[in-house]
Amino acid sequence: MRPTSDCTGAHLLDAREGYRRWAPSYADETAISCLEDGIVAAMTPPLAGLRLLDAGCGTGRRLQGCGAALAVGVDASAAMLDAGVGRGEPQPGIVTMVGDVRALPLENESFDVLWCRLVIGHLPDCAPAYRELARAAAPGARVIVSDFHPDAYAAGHRRSFREGESVHEIEHYVHTSEAQIAAARGAGLALIDEREAAIGEAVFPFYQRAGRPELFAAHRGLPVVLALAFRG
Ligand SMILES: C[S@@+](CC[C@H](N)C(=O)[O-])C[C@H]1O[C@@H](n2cnc3c(N)ncnc32)[C@H](O)[C@@H]1O
Repeated sequence: MRPTSDCTGAHLLDAREGYRRWAPSYADETAISCLEDGIVAAMTPPLAGLRLLDAGCGTGRRLQGCGAALAVGVDASAAMLDAGVGRGEPQPGIVTMVGDVRALPLENESFDVLWCRLVIGHLPDCAPAYRELARAAAPGARVIVSDFHPDAYAAGHRRSFREGESVHEIEHYVHTSEAQIAAARGAGLALIDEREAAIGEAVFPFYQRAGRPELFAAHRGLPVVLALAFRG
């Protein structure tokens, strides 16, 4: 488990190679994934009876036990899917497939809740992803998009993971809240909620376990997750 990192000296990888290599250890939660999960849970309606899409689902860890009537995960990385939900027996109500959030292999208007979690920063342009989320959203659906916070990037933090003795950084494109809201509006989505999560006591254990408690004081209060919710 790693706290957020300023990651100097890391090797920079593109998303495809980065997640191929991160896949075996991706299940380990980080300070950021922990905060992200809390904030998205608070913005997500009860899923019972609803059709959920997780666009850029990674290992599919957020689909497991989510309670949706149908939970579909799409991710560009077969390695991530294979390391997660794809590894065991098929799970009732969960379907995963390889695909791109900018060209979803899914029908129009087919989901009631759509997540796109910690993905949009891997795209040079966020508009195509917003157009696809809007297309796949049923009328009145909720679309929730989270990402690494622009303030964290500006403060020098990077998206990184450890592989053996090496630390790798995955390429990231900053999309401000304003730029995302404009892209979403252009796709026909209306903003209904905007939240951020900052480093605080809840994630101190990640710093302790990483043997870097002194970093906690330096990072405390820094927003590291931005989440936006839209109505389809
Ligand atoms: C930080 S992980 C987040 C995974 C998952 N949403 C979660 O919160 O655990 C980012 C994921 O985005 C996926 N990804 C990156 N670019 C993508 C694209 N264009 N289309 C689909 N998935 C993509 C990566 O393969 C990776 O699994």
